[in-house]
Amino acid sequence: MNSWYSELSLRDIQRRFGSAAWIVSERQLINNLNRLATFTGGVDKILYPVKANPAIPVLQILAREGAGADCANLHEINEALICGFPPERIVYNSPVQDMRTIHFMLESGGTVVVDDPHVLAQLNNEWIADKTPGSIWLRINPSSKVEYAHKDALQELMAHGSESSKFGIPEEELSALLAECKLPISGLHLHVGTQMDNLNSFELALASLHRVADSLMELGFDIKHLDIGGGLGISFADGKEFPSIEQWAQRLLPACREFSYYAEPGHALVGDAVVLLATIETIKTSRGRKWAVCNVGTDQLAKITLLKWEHPVYYGNGKYLSHHGNDALAGPLCFAGDVLIHHTDLTGIEINQPILITKAGAYLFALSNTFNGRTALPWLTFNGQGEVHLSVHKEELFNRVFLQQPVFQIQSNAEVEVVDPDHFHHLQSDYIARRMHLDEYEFVKLERLSDKRYRFTTQVKSTVGFISMPLAIRIFGDAAIVAVLHDAGASTKDHSVWGQKICLDYFGNVSSSEPFVFTMTLSHCYLFHGNRKMAVAFETETKGIQGIVIAHH
Ligand SMILES: Cc1ncc(COP(=O)(O)O)c(C=O)c1O
Repeated sequence: MNSWYSELSLRDIQRRFGSAAWIVSERQLINNLNRLATFTGGVDKILYPVKANPAIPVLQILAREGAGADCANLHEINEALICGFPPERIVYNSPVQDMRTIHFMLESGGTVVVDDPHVLAQLNNEWIADKTPGSIWLRINPSSKVEYAHKDALQELMAHGSESSKFGIPEEELSALLAECKLPISGLHLHVGTQMDNLNSFELALASLHRVADSLMELGFDIKHLDIGGGLGISFADGKEFPSIEQWAQRLLPACREFSYYAEPGHALVGDAVVLLATIETIKTSRGRKWAVCNVGTDQLAKITLLKWEHPVYYGNGKYLSHHGNDALAGPLCFAGDVLIHHTDLTGIEINQPILITKAGAYLFALSNTFNGRTALPWLTFNGQGEVHLSVHKEELFNRVFLQQPVFQIQSNAEVEVVDPDHFHHLQSDYIARRMHLDEYEFVKLERLSDKRYRFTTQVKSTVGFISMPLAIRIFGDAAIVAVLHDAGASTKDHSVWGQKICLDYFGNVSSSEPFVFTMTLSHCYLFHGNRKMAVAFETETKGIQGIVIAHH
């Protein structure tokens, strides 16, 4: 197997970026997207299910390449918007739908896939014809069976389109439900299941979509769009093969008719485009069995350890750990099930060895958790030029806790004590209270490095000789306003932009005697409670300070 990651120098990446880290291959992702689009006839009709992997570089690459996004709630919609998917390429589809999000999507030109008869009735009651640019599709639950070629116990969890699943409106109930419906329903959606290994299921699904489309068109609906969902599987363990993307497309294409066709592949699109770099931390022998323990486990790989989907583990020079033998590969967490490979052979594996958990793109990062105080890993991109660069920083310890704004519970029966002003004034920072207002800064140069990326050069006069945290907040807050307005094409500060949240890591003293240089990178706009917002990420050249301002605009 000669995969894209055989080009990576694992020790070099480990040294430059640390381990563990997710790595996405831009080329592999784009290649998969284009192969899948042979069925739909365009990448814009590949609706990437954000749930499969909401990592920012993955979303940014797909948005830039022109793909669409399938989102299950406002959070996923905003992630897609921030990363550059325009609303017209976003489809909102979930078993529980929120009316505000439905209206937002329809008003901004997106698509809503209705899964619930109550939502259908409510939309129908409120409907004002020609007021919305968006589209309405229906999710159907086909009356056909979901077929797997190879049976296993977990398929029950993955057969979304089965008769007994909670998803969609049963095909046979649709006509009665739509008798009084005046909504301009223009599309149908269906998702058969996940890790499907049998192309018959997709053929049956397409036949269901055609059958329902015909009956709705007889009722007067103008059905133009058919979305066959996701579900094409990828193989993890040897011996369990799946149809290729080409076989899937070739089987479906002859059955296609006059409609526009869409698909929502998760595993098939992102599964083999991401690997997880990890390091062997220790190797110990217990009752004659060798255990290699690496630095990732159920925190990042819940699906592997809990469902036992053993992914191929690569350790360089074309070599993979076997899935036979008396040894085992485990994660570092405090529970017995934290095992990545239950039977392997550790010959040739040493402490500090970098390994790659391959085919790790789908439903691993998305299911990651904080067990044992673990934080989110950084993301690296292996770009089209064959270089590796940092795309998302590692989550700092405790950030997650503090960003949630904990309410610290303090038990005290003590009486309120008024502290003597002389006392607390002596404790106050004299600089912050009395001298900081004398600090001055001036932006001396602003460079637009590329779309949505700016470099500021700032001259600072500070009475303490360094840039204090409150001064940094002033400077970054001001710079965020300038960047947002420049990006919006404003020539004067003629409308308001204000910061609503700032997260700032201040790692070391930043001297004020040198020019203070930092970059600001803007996200695309997203909507939160009806307001337009932008995230502005900043970073100093010296890496001393970094953070994000959320600007309301
Ligand atoms: C509606 C919908 N579309 C697409 C997918 C992606 O499925 P897969 O990753 O199996 O292709 C899912 C997964 O659960 C889904 O629920």
